[in-house]
Formats: sequence, C-alpha cells, structure tokens
Amino acid sequence: MEATCLVVLLRFCVQILAFPAYLLWYLGIWEPLCKKLFPYLMAVVTICYNKHMSDKKKEMFSNLKDFASPTGALTLLEIGAGTGSNFQFYPAGCKIICTDPNPNFQKFLNKSVAENPHVQVERCLVAPAEDLHQVPAASVDVVVSTLVLCSVKSPEQVMKEVLRVLRPGGAFYFLEHVAGAPSSWTLFWQQIYDPTWICLFDGCHLARETWNDLEKAGFSELKLRHIHAPLKWHPTRPHIIGYAVK
Ligand SMILES: C[S@@+](CC[C@H](N)C(=O)[O-])C[C@H]1O[C@@H](n2cnc3c(N)ncnc32)[C@H](O)[C@@H]1O
Ligand SMILES: *[C@@H]1O[C@H](CO)[C@@H](O)[C@H](O)[C@H]1NC(C)=O
Repeated sequence: MEATCLVVLLRFCVQILAFPAYLLWYLGIWEPLCKKLFPYLMAVVTICYNKHMSDKKKEMFSNLKDFASPTGALTLLEIGAGTGSNFQFYPAGCKIICTDPNPNFQKFLNKSVAENPHVQVERCLVAPAEDLHQVPAASVDVVVSTLVLCSVKSPEQVMKEVLRVLRPGGAFYFLEHVAGAPSSWTLFWQQIYDPTWICLFDGCHLARETWNDLEKAGFSELKLRHIHAPLKWHPTRPHIIGYAVK
C-alpha cells in the first residue's frame, strides 16, 4: 500500500517535470512532432543499442538459415523495422519485407538498405503489425520483432497476424524489453516512469509482460530466455530473447 502511494506520488513528480510535453500533447502538437522526431532519436539510440547488444543479436539470428524454405530461400518479414537496424545481422541473400506504421523512418531505412547489399529489401509497407493484410497468409519463413511489442496497441492481435503470415514451421524471432521482476527496483522505477515514457517515446510501455502474450499465442514451440541487457540502471534493462515456431 505504502509502495503504491509512493509510486503514485513519484509518478506525479515525473509528470510535472514533463509538463511541457503533456501540454503539447493536449494541444495536439506532440503526437505529430513525436512521429517526426522519433526516427532521429532512434537512429542515435540504435547505434548505442547495437554496440551493446550485437553479441546477443548475432547469437539470436545465428540459426535463421534453419528456417529457410525447402528451395533454400529465406523470406523474412520485419515488423516495426524502424531504421533497419537488424539488416546487418541477416544472412546473405535473405529477402526482406519491412513494415512500420511511421513513414518518417523511410529515409533512415533506405540508408540501411544501401549499407547492406547482402540482403534484398523487396517491399516496404506502411502498416501497423496488428493489420498486415497486404501480406498473404503462410507466405513468409520468418518474422522478426526487436523493441516493437512494447509499442504496439495490441500485442495479442499482433501475435495473431504473425501466426497468420508465417508458413507452418516458420519462426517468430523476438528481442524485447519487458517488465522487471516482481518487487524489483527496476519494476518500481518502471511503474513511476511508465505514463510519461509512453507519452515521450511514441507509445513505448516499460512494464509489459510480453512473455505472457507469446506463451498464450499458440506457437508449437517457444524458446524464450529472460536476460539483462548491459544497460546499467536503465529502465529497459530486462529483456526477453528467443524465437517461437508456428
Ligand atoms: C523502439 S523502435 C524499434 C525499431 C527497430 N525495430 C529497432 O529494433 O531498431 C519501435 C518501432 O515500432 C514501431 N511501431 C509502433 N507501433 C507499431 C505497431 N502497432 N506495429 C508495428 N510497429 C510499430 C515504431 O514506428 C518504431 O519503428
Ligand atoms: C527510399 O527508397 C525508395 C526505393 O528506392 C524510394 O522510392 C523512396 O523515395 C525513398 N524514400 C526516401 C525518404 O528516401
């Protein structure tokens, strides 16, 4: 009870500090501004994140080839592709379909396409992962999501769409920041920052228990590990990493 009151109080203090952003938000200025500026922020954050997480990403994507179709080709759909920060980790010859609801990422994505000639980006769709109707059912070998399920409106609906577009035996790869352990300091601070964080960082939730959505989705196999990203004190430190097979 005391902890809850303290959380509410500190949460309010953080909201007061972020008052200018809330004001712009109520005036309807913040959201379009955020959609424009967020890609610039992500371009910087990604450099730092990939530096700290490249070993984890390399390890996670090391068995992508196992899910190539019988012809040997690998068709990969990336949801919330953002700046295209994962292209460098994909195997040569990989065919990529990118989706992101924010068209302002395209400029940054194009740069990553140019820097990674070993992969072929076939299509870029402006679409939320909750609605991938432009992608036929059972048409891709692999779906990838990194730091996206924190920001989607409905993780449950995204899981349904991922399962629809994957071919039987295909895999969903994920690397996501999640809620800290119960009673941890991390979860305590996540709960304090959460409402302001959502407002500032384009709908990113700090304390989602994303593993529950993956467990409930109905994959035939789920390889999921809880890890701590090497980001000291950061509220996005707890991560889940792994893949799920349709
Ligand atoms: C923190 S960024 C991560 C970008 C990229 N996946 C990476 O790892 O560098 C979150 C991304 O999710 C996208 N996003 C937000 N809502 C989404 C939704 N409903 N469906 C798919 N992507 C979404 C944002 O536009 C943004 O590109
Ligand atoms: C990105 O590349 C595509 C395909 O080459 C092109 O049509 C589009 O105009 C480019 N977008 C930006 C913002 O550079």
